[in-house]
Amino acid sequence: MKKMQEQRQRSLQNSVIQFTLIQNSLFQSLNNTIKVHIVKAISIVLMGVALCCNAHAESGKAEKELNLYSARHYQTDEALYTNFTKQTGIKINRIEADDNALIERLKSEGSKSPADVILMVDTARLWRAQIDGLFRPIQSKNLESRIPENLRAKSDTDGITWFGFSTRARLIVYNKSLMNPKDIDTYEKLAEAPSKGKVCTRSGSHPYMLSLIGSLIELHGEVATELWAKKMVNNMARSPKGGDTDQIKSVATGECGVALANSYYLVRLMRSTKTEDIELVKKIGFIWPNQNSTGVHVNIAGAGVAKNAPHPESAVLFLNYLASDTAQTYFADGNNEWPVVKTSKVENEGLKKLGQFKVQNVSIAAVGRNQISAQRLLDRVGYK
Ligand SMILES: [Fe+2]
Repeated sequence: MKKMQEQRQRSLQNSVIQFTLIQNSLFQSLNNTIKVHIVKAISIVLMGVALCCNAHAESGKAEKELNLYSARHYQTDEALYTNFTKQTGIKINRIEADDNALIERLKSEGSKSPADVILMVDTARLWRAQIDGLFRPIQSKNLESRIPENLRAKSDTDGITWFGFSTRARLIVYNKSLMNPKDIDTYEKLAEAPSKGKVCTRSGSHPYMLSLIGSLIELHGEVATELWAKKMVNNMARSPKGGDTDQIKSVATGECGVALANSYYLVRLMRSTKTEDIELVKKIGFIWPNQNSTGVHVNIAGAGVAKNAPHPESAVLFLNYLASDTAQTYFADGNNEWPVVKTSKVENEGLKKLGQFKVQNVSIAAVGRNQISAQRLLDRVGYK
């Protein structure tokens, strides 16, 4: 930018020098009235050039910014954003809030919203933002080739509204001295007799739970899933509360026998060097659910260009950056998530310890669509 401004300044200086030369050589032969008119005309032209260049510089400056509305809440993302600025010179202005608050904010800002990119941590919320018309669909051969079809919004004639950039799995964590893993190796079994009074989850209305239940609706239908949810309520060790880390900690203390948690919360504890975390991890086991049947529920963190993005080019550049090998590695190494781009390398001992697992064959977009049915059935059975 500085170089461009210097070039513009030099070109303006050259124009003034040329103007002075013309004045010196030709003006001598003209009368005074004509001289005044010529000076005025050239001055106006030069002023116009200056204004044009300044306006151009302003718009250039604007393109060097990106307003990111993000629901990601991980310290480790700092390096992900800093690296983008280092690569492109584009400064990221971040607004951080949970998915729900971001959606409300975007809706109230309407066409005046400064948001360029909307980044969310759950497919149910991405779907809602899509339905609310908060995204601007884009067409990108690069994103379409790098991000698998089942991890992005359905394509229509205008393009694609959002793309998944990392995945996380919802696994089962259990207390080794309280539970027999064979009794709890599927989501469905958590609702059965051996888990009576032992199950803990965060609120059923949280997006992570709504998406899991949305996937079960997709696999088994609404009637069967409602029955499952009803039995889950009867198996609770306590009323749903807290975040995923709280569930894992309560399993370790024995308050809960078994709980559901996103994979990166478990890996974070597994990689921790704090004595209390090391002791905690010794008491718990984890299970990849449904390995002989429907597979593990996987969710995404995903993003799209905001509908009224003032910097759409920077926004598209940022999405492409998130799909780059470098950014994909940040997701894996920084926040213990899996890259969506198959060729990206993962050097994370914690993730390696989790090993391979079978994933549900369910479209992430379908899971998003089912969130309203999921919430309704939870309300009917009193799953808080
Ligand atoms: Fe989370």
